[in-house]
Amino acid sequence: MFFQNYKIRNKHLINMFTFIILLLSPQVVLGAGDSISYPENNWSFSGITGTFDRASQQRGLQVYKEVCSGCHGLRLVAYRNLKALGYNDDEVKAFAAENSVSDIDDEGETIERAARPSDKFVSPYPNKQAARAANGGAYPPDLSLIVKARANGADYLHALLTGYVDAPVEKKVPDGMYFNKYYAGNLIGMPQPLYEDGVTFADGTTATQAQMAKDVTTFLAWASEPELEERKRIGISVILFLLLLTILSYFAMRQIWAPIKNK
Ligand code: HEC
Repeated sequence: MFFQNYKIRNKHLINMFTFIILLLSPQVVLGAGDSISYPENNWSFSGITGTFDRASQQRGLQVYKEVCSGCHGLRLVAYRNLKALGYNDDEVKAFAAENSVSDIDDEGETIERAARPSDKFVSPYPNKQAARAANGGAYPPDLSLIVKARANGADYLHALLTGYVDAPVEKKVPDGMYFNKYYAGNLIGMPQPLYEDGVTFADGTTATQAQMAKDVTTFLAWASEPELEERKRIGISVILFLLLLTILSYFAMRQIWAPIKNK
């Protein structure tokens, strides 16, 4: 009886094992092809106590606004969220008011009005088709979640933005495509966006390509995960609390068992 059961269970186990291997095998094969590795950066927001570098975030916002926002939207971020970067209400209001959004007035007419802090970042194109039409068929994705949407997102983005190099002679680069050593397949529909001194930073930092890439990545990492600092803070307090609780329970346990042990 016992052996019979045992056999059946074994068969189940083998079936399950085969199923899991089959499930994993395409990933193993795909994984083998993905061999581009990116230089690692020292991000202020990595590690368990990491926080965003405010000055870098503000410079990153400037790079996004002056360079990327021509083609890429940021539709999940509202202007008022920028207060987290250290701006005050008036600054946020002024920043929002530089954009215009369409709205419906009290008479039901469509109007254009200045954006308010509660509005989301205005996208450069009305829809995907218009975005494709303006970019030779390639779609510039919304950048709100891009750092989360790519494996090793921050390092990848930094590498991509600094990865435009001359194509090797044997590589054919069609019109409207550009060679980037870190993009899968090397041909990307985005022209090189960052050049030395492409922006003049408000805080006087020298705008090298690497600096702008670092700052815009920090800004977009925040956009992807604005609650990161809060999450880490809570995480640390929870661990400290649990540690304290463990110590207290240990002493409570000793106290409770003392009369029994001493008998
Ligand atoms: C002239 C328009 C233009 C500008 C300016 C521009 N991009 Fe792009 N970007 C594109 C297009 C088009 C694509 C899609 C490329 C493709 O699919 O081949 C793209 C793709 C991307 C991607 C996705 C890459 C991937 O892994 O799929 C990222 C990330 C990106 N851009 C970031 C930026 C950042 C950051 C800036 C500002 C520093 C910027 N872009 C400026 C047009 C632009």
